[in-house]
Amino acid sequence: MATLLHIIAHPNDETQSFSMAAGNAFVQAYREAHPKDEVIHLDLYKAHIPHIDADVFSGWGKLRSGSELSTLSAEEKSKVNRLNELVDQFVAADKYVFITPMWNFSYPPIMKAYIDAICAAGKTFKYTAEGPVGLLPDKKALHIQARGGIYSTAPMSDMEMGHRHLAAIMQFFGITDFQGLFIEGHNQYPDRAAAIKQEGIDKAVSLAKSF
Ligand SMILES: Cc1cc2nc3c(=O)[nH]c(=O)nc-3n(C[C@H](O)[C@H](O)[C@H](O)COP(=O)(O)O)c2cc1C
Repeated sequence: MATLLHIIAHPNDETQSFSMAAGNAFVQAYREAHPKDEVIHLDLYKAHIPHIDADVFSGWGKLRSGSELSTLSAEEKSKVNRLNELVDQFVAADKYVFITPMWNFSYPPIMKAYIDAICAAGKTFKYTAEGPVGLLPDKKALHIQARGGIYSTAPMSDMEMGHRHLAAIMQFFGITDFQGLFIEGHNQYPDRAAAIKQEGIDKAVSLAKSF
């Protein structure tokens, strides 16, 4: 039995969002194809995702200098514990599907806060004399993203910073089995929007079967 972590970085539901429509189709098809697997939903807009702020730095500083967790302030403790919980949940899963919309060539800021939470030395990567080494080589991940324009090919592909950043993070964690599913161009070609959305949903369903 495997665990799929469904990470949602979108404030809207599938009636308003192409990413969510494809993401939900993926998860439904995944459940049908892998009935024994566990699917955990992590909705970043509803979950508590602490930012790395002054409390987190002071909490980490106290722990690094040997203080007990009980000596941290309530804010420090709750943020540091929550960040640990998020990375532990990530490490415990076997597969990941990230759902994000393209916003300003990237993904929503809550997604960056989540990436900051799961980049943890000793858990998702480690530093060695030869450089950093990813600690999650056996996992696999998919990023589903809707984009108003077309970014998977030139001339706009160099402007795309969200999937490429996530790809770098996955590589940093040692996750080489990472792919993207893009529903793109529906704002640029509004007359084709319905077909572009359906194509994305169909691809999501097909990918879910072998994921
Ligand atoms: C805040 C914001 C920023 C956006 N930035 C871009 C962008 O940089 N490039 C683009 O092609 N479309 C951009 N769009 C359009 C979205 O990518 C497009 O509507 C896409 O369908 C969003 O995903 P969704 O359908 O899952 O909400 C932006 C939309 C919003 C709301």
